[in-house]
Amino acid sequence: MSVQHTAVVGAGTMGNGIAHVLALHGYPVALIDLDEELLEDARTTIERNLSRQVDKDATTSDAKEAALNRLSLTPDTAEGVRSADLVVEAVPEEQPIKADVFGTLDAHAPDDAILASNTSSISITWIAAQTKRPEQVIGMHFFNPVPVMTLVEVVRGQRTSSATFDIVAEVAEDLDKNPVAVEDYPGFVSNRVLMPMINEAIFCVMEGVAEPEDIDTVMEMGMNHPMGPLTLADFIGLDVCLHILEVLHDELGDDKYRPCPLLRRKVTAGQLGRKTGEGFFEYG
Ligand code: CAA
Repeated sequence: MSVQHTAVVGAGTMGNGIAHVLALHGYPVALIDLDEELLEDARTTIERNLSRQVDKDATTSDAKEAALNRLSLTPDTAEGVRSADLVVEAVPEEQPIKADVFGTLDAHAPDDAILASNTSSISITWIAAQTKRPEQVIGMHFFNPVPVMTLVEVVRGQRTSSATFDIVAEVAEDLDKNPVAVEDYPGFVSNRVLMPMINEAIFCVMEGVAEPEDIDTVMEMGMNHPMGPLTLADFIGLDVCLHILEVLHDELGDDKYRPCPLLRRKVTAGQLGRKTGEGFFEYG
């Protein structure tokens, strides 16, 4: 099977980024979300980010227009996936929502379609078990901002077939990304390595080791990270970081993943980072 038509479920930051790169690399893509306002916002965001790439000579105006013409928006999941060869799910990280979405995808996508999840914290094996096609379910974990970041973790669930893996890795390469094969363990590789670093930076704030700006400066200038860990945590969302740390802590059972109390306090207070205007730093 070769992938011709695609669909992305969920029009938030990750979903619109994934639809952006699929459309830009020649795949017709149906972007699906129950929230029609979010769908319209996603189109505006994709258009703005494509223009940014045109301004930087990373693409041309013609390629931008062609990409926008390949993009369709729909609130109807059954309709959106009807002719898809590959569906990428990017809905909120809650198991009941994932179960519901994958049940719908399984019922309405063509029998040979691959169902991929962009989850960063839910088991691919568990998601696959919500369907009657576990061999065709896989993790396709992109990174924010999707048009810029060149990695895709391709996560094999317990029953994912090697044919499914090969097709998805090929699509990732087609999107100019580097697919990395990862087995289905909590946090995969990316968040298992990243989140303890972010958590430790938050412990440094809580214990007064240094000011937040200075902690970030150490990692930016001393380790050449493009963003310090606290700025990155604000960028990812502090609620998302807390959720991933809880998954690592619960499922691996090691105290080294215990979320810092200051992270919990900020999430409880609604200081979730860039999206709420305040996290470890303030945003205009
Ligand atoms: N769409 C298209 N292009 C974009 C873009 C977007 N959404 N966002 C940024 N860009 C482009 C810019 O146009 C710019 O292009 P040039 O290099 O050609 O000039 C380039 O990206 C850099 O952007 P900026 O100059 O605006 O800003 P910057 O140099 O500070 O870079 C950044 C911004 C790319 C976000 C950089 O700070 C960075 O790489 N940060 C780390 C991001 C990261 O770690 N992401 C992973 C988060 S974890 C995750 O996503 C998964 C999870 O499971 C939690």
